[in-house]
Amino acid sequence: MPRKPLIAANWKMYKTPVQAQEFTKNFLPLVANHERDEIVLCPSFTSLSVVIAAATGSGVAVGAQNMYSADEGAFTGETSPVMLKAIGVTHAILGHSERRQYFAETDETINKKLKAALQHGLAPIVCVGEVLAEREAGKTNEVLLRQTRGVLAGIEATQAAPIVIAYEPVWAIGTGRTATPQIASEAHGVIRGEVAKLLGGTVAESMRILYGGSVKPENASALMTEEEIDGALVGGASLDPQSFGKIVNY
Ligand code: 13P
Repeated sequence: MPRKPLIAANWKMYKTPVQAQEFTKNFLPLVANHERDEIVLCPSFTSLSVVIAAATGSGVAVGAQNMYSADEGAFTGETSPVMLKAIGVTHAILGHSERRQYFAETDETINKKLKAALQHGLAPIVCVGEVLAEREAGKTNEVLLRQTRGVLAGIEATQAAPIVIAYEPVWAIGTGRTATPQIASEAHGVIRGEVAKLLGGTVAESMRILYGGSVKPENASALMTEEEIDGALVGGASLDPQSFGKIVNY
């Protein structure tokens, strides 16, 4: 079974609800009847509902950029998978490097979130990736293996189908410096090899591994035509409907 590519827009902390709605209105016609890839828009929490309303019936899915692992409780400021599911969210980005860097997320907390997402029928897009110092010190594979094991700890092969991994080398995020298709492919191979060890060859073969880090209309094709790259998680270039439309239609 070939892996259906997934292309997701991570808007990070950009766009008010009105701006998010405007984007969606302008973007959907650019991807009408687009079958090749799964498309997911990930706005901030305050724009989830308007984007879901605007995208209903379009085939474009909507994901959250984060969530907490508990169903409910005294966790001020957090949002639960139950709440996301209730409004029609289908995906959740988990463990983005910005959450690891600025909000102290660890493989362990990300692993809890991943289990909660699966339990509630949300497809997790779980991020891994090395920082520049780790790459320069020759530690990329070590970091990827550790993070892959950490975020997937305790997951059974039978639960794994919805999981999507995003390889996001931190040195390529928002820097304009993209991993070459070769660098990305190599990293994806390392991650897939570890998934095979943990969950078996069949799961590894069907698991989608996205690349993220300065994906633009100009480099989308070269990256996405790599055998090992099953789609993209796009930051800056997903904020403009024309630009994200070009990436999806590479
Ligand atoms: P940029 O595409 O802006 O580099 O961001 C990548 C990213 O972090 C997507 O999650």
